[in-house]
Amino acid sequence: MNLPFKKLTALVTAGPTQEKIDPVRFISNYSSGKQGYAIAEALAKHLVNVQLVSGPTCLTRPQNVDFTEIESASQMLNVCEKLLPVDIAIFVAAVSDFRPKFIYSNKIKKTSADEITITLCKNPDILKTISMHKTKRPKLVIGFAAESENLIENAKIKLATKECDWIIANSVEPNNSALKSDYNEIYIITRENIEHLPFMDKKSIAEHLAYKIITYFK
Ligand code: CTP
Repeated sequence: MNLPFKKLTALVTAGPTQEKIDPVRFISNYSSGKQGYAIAEALAKHLVNVQLVSGPTCLTRPQNVDFTEIESASQMLNVCEKLLPVDIAIFVAAVSDFRPKFIYSNKIKKTSADEITITLCKNPDILKTISMHKTKRPKLVIGFAAESENLIENAKIKLATKECDWIIANSVEPNNSALKSDYNEIYIITRENIEHLPFMDKKSIAEHLAYKIITYFK
């Protein structure tokens, strides 16, 4: 007897987050969202039901993917928690680790001072929160590690401390910055081994990852 085919479900985070300072300014980073969007699209081609949660980017929304746009890390966490349970969660977003402790309700005026100090407080770690979820932890949790030094060593620490199943290490040092480019070089680190994907375009990386994920569930 053939069992009914059950579609896998995936949550993918992508892009930067923006953390408001005042009505016209924010703190963010250089993330383009390209790698996360490519992964969402590649998974959808394998008939995975994909929920893409993205910070603001200039990219076209991938086809056959459910899409939610957020601004801040807190909003991203909120949406991700609501989308559980899923089989697969891949955290590609470059989440701002800190946000301004207070948001000015009016535009900060140039004439208000010669120097200003903005106090930052820590944002929630979305990957770690979902990875350590008591009741709805996805079956496969994948994080990214953006490192400007000691790539493999630091990525392995993130694999352990964030309790994910795989971590994708990529360099963000100035000459090899993964954040804005169409290309990347990655190391897929699991508890058992490390697989190196040489420099290639982000779509090819996404297809390789999607295939590896599907194979994991077979
Ligand atoms: N991440 C997250 N929430 C955060 C920070 C990071 O979900 N507040 C996720 C990223 O999406 C990525 C992984 O955690 O999958 C690692 O992100 P990275 O920026 O490399 O590291 P951080 O945890 O921010 O640590 P550090 O900046 O100290 O390297």
